[in-house]
Amino acid sequence: MPFERETYYVCREVDVLELQVTNSPFTQEQVELLNRLLPQLGDHQKIWLSGFLSATLGTAAISGFASSATSEQASLTSPVLQVMPVSKEVTVLFGSQTGNSQGLAKKVTKKLEEQGYQVSLTSMGDFKPNSLKKIENLLIVVSTHGEGEPPDNAIPFHEFIFSKRAPQLENLRFSVLALGDTSYEFFCQTGKEFDQRLEELGGTRIVPRADCDVDFDESAAEWMNEVVSSFNQAGEALTSAGAATGTTGAAGASANSAESEYSRSNPFNAEVLENLNLNGRGSDRETRHIEISLEGSGLQYEPGDSLGIYPENHPKLVEELLEALGWNAEELVPVNKNGEQKAVREALLRYYEITVLTKPLLTQVAELTGSKELKQLLGAGHEDALRSYLNENDLLDLVQDYQLKGVSSDKLIPLLRKIPARLYSIASSPNAYPGEVHLTVRTVRYESKGRNRYGVCSVQLAERIEPGEQVPIYIQHNDNFKLPDNPDTPIIMIGPGTGVAPFRAFLGEREESGASGKSWLFYGDQHFATDFLYQLEWQKWLQDGVLTRMDVAFSRDTDKKVYVQHRMLEKSKELYAWLQEGAAVYVCGDEKKMAHDVHAALLTILEQEGGLTPEKAAEYLISLQQQKRYQRDVY
Ligand SMILES: Cc1cc2nc3c(=O)[nH]c(=O)nc-3n(C[C@H](O)[C@H](O)[C@H](O)COP(=O)(O)OP(=O)(O)OC[C@H]3O[C@@H](n4cnc5c(N)ncnc54)[C@H](O)[C@@H]3O)c2cc1C
Ligand SMILES: Cc1cc2nc3c(=O)[nH]c(=O)nc-3n(C[C@H](O)[C@H](O)[C@H](O)COP(=O)(O)O)c2cc1C
Repeated sequence: MPFERETYYVCREVDVLELQVTNSPFTQEQVELLNRLLPQLGDHQKIWLSGFLSATLGTAAISGFASSATSEQASLTSPVLQVMPVSKEVTVLFGSQTGNSQGLAKKVTKKLEEQGYQVSLTSMGDFKPNSLKKIENLLIVVSTHGEGEPPDNAIPFHEFIFSKRAPQLENLRFSVLALGDTSYEFFCQTGKEFDQRLEELGGTRIVPRADCDVDFDESAAEWMNEVVSSFNQAGEALTSAGAATGTTGAAGASANSAESEYSRSNPFNAEVLENLNLNGRGSDRETRHIEISLEGSGLQYEPGDSLGIYPENHPKLVEELLEALGWNAEELVPVNKNGEQKAVREALLRYYEITVLTKPLLTQVAELTGSKELKQLLGAGHEDALRSYLNENDLLDLVQDYQLKGVSSDKLIPLLRKIPARLYSIASSPNAYPGEVHLTVRTVRYESKGRNRYGVCSVQLAERIEPGEQVPIYIQHNDNFKLPDNPDTPIIMIGPGTGVAPFRAFLGEREESGASGKSWLFYGDQHFATDFLYQLEWQKWLQDGVLTRMDVAFSRDTDKKVYVQHRMLEKSKELYAWLQEGAAVYVCGDEKKMAHDVHAALLTILEQEGGLTPEKAAEYLISLQQQKRYQRDVY
């Protein structure tokens, strides 16, 4: 262990830092250089330098430089440097919507605890901002959602830190791990904002922010190792010689599946038990009800969790791409950093993302090909055109539009992202269906530029997975979408379309546990006759009293389109009364439109029925969020 309970770091004592040739091993010229440099260095720079020298020369060789007065080097420093206690306490704060940041926050906590640190791991939603001033070591792990917005449980803390009430933080040492997706315009925006703001408030960044794309394991592990070494080096530079160095090596399996050996980085090949279309004949939509066996996996979940599935690309698209590039389908290409190779056809089917374009990919392709047109699209003044191009095209379009035929696989393949897993809100209660997990998956199909486009995972599930076949899965735990602890608490569930999935899990769970709390479901889709997903189940639960009331909105059955938010507004009095009784509100489904409209409807209800000003209504919802009485699972 590198530190004892009390640790020390070097601190500059005013401005008397001066080396003498007589009591040092340096030449006159070196002493002059050092005397010019050293007074300019801050404490953390000295610690860093000291750690750097430790790492390059071996700790014993320079240990005395920083700690004791027993060696020649010590006489060099003892008049000018003193040691000061530094806290071994670290606060890890996470802001997470779907659980990734939370999993990584747990992982860095574990790593630090193994090194003897006392770590307090807290959701930003539970954090008391007034205690910020007291923190010396802060790690932030946060994702970005919406269009560059903080995850729900980070909103109050994010607002606080950007408000005038935010304190000066000159004693704070911090680092930020930012999660995001490079296919979004505002990549890792929330992490960037926290990072910049903490610096503005006077904090010292101990390790540069790491911005992670969807395949975050490696970059996150690197950041964690840097953080741990940075803390360790600060201690090593000042404590005894021979102390253990910081951890190395990649972090282990994802923390989100502690009970099982299977996780995001080690998925379980699960058997599909059932695969049905829930929509009636004549519907515009196709929604599959999929049942998957967890037998033999040890995987466990709770209502509100999601299932991750690693999909395969559409074989037709892969063939078209191979042809457009002029590649030999059997040629071997690397599929990971361990040197494993596969035929390029299989690599494109199972390992690489070919349906989403990102700005970093286009930038690298422009460099690779020297394409003037592509460089122009990426240049200043073409932001709107770039945004549209990224949203509307896939790799095949890029290959065709920018004449990539002939670019070799060893040049292009390393530029592609790994195919990311898709998440699905679990639609079953594990108590109602032990050993199984159910999903409600809407098939994504559309046409663009004269070509049929297929949602990678949903179309694979709809067209190419039969019962008896296997899919690689993992459980994505989500603490931010959970039934109230108290079974008597009323719940209001708003879930149009596939958003209804987790509410099937919630009601299944409440039925199994005999919970007595009232429940109210708002559901909607296009047509009553063809799109009323799980209709018979809701009706049975209504009869049995498991579901207290249900309001539906079928948008295309009436002249004027009605959506769930309209039904909520129609029932505003009752809805407000439920809120006043302590009900918890859950929203699941479309993020872009529905979740915003439902949020606005809730604000209107609070203003209308509660007589609140718009500001007070917004505060009311934030306070609900903090009490975990307003939770969203939106995508
Ligand atoms: C926490 C969470 C829970 C989720 N739960 C569910 C769930 O319960 N059920 C469910 O069905 N999905 C759910 N999703 C969404 C799911 O993860 C996938 O995003 C969805 O199934 C599409 O994946 P895909 O691979 O089929 O499509 P992809 O290949 O990823 O393609 C989808 C993309 O196609 C583009 N696109 C789609 N339609 C059009 C169009 N008409 N015109 C132009 N472009 C278009 C959009 O860019 C869209 O993002 C959830 C997502 C999250 C994050
Ligand atoms: C609906 C939705 C919106 C998103 N918006 C952004 C975004 O604007 N910028 C970004 O970098 N990432 C965005 N992401 C990607 C997430 O930040 C990424 O999936 C992250 O790993 C999620 O971490 P979490 O599980 O801790 O919330 C979005 C993801 C979803 C599902």
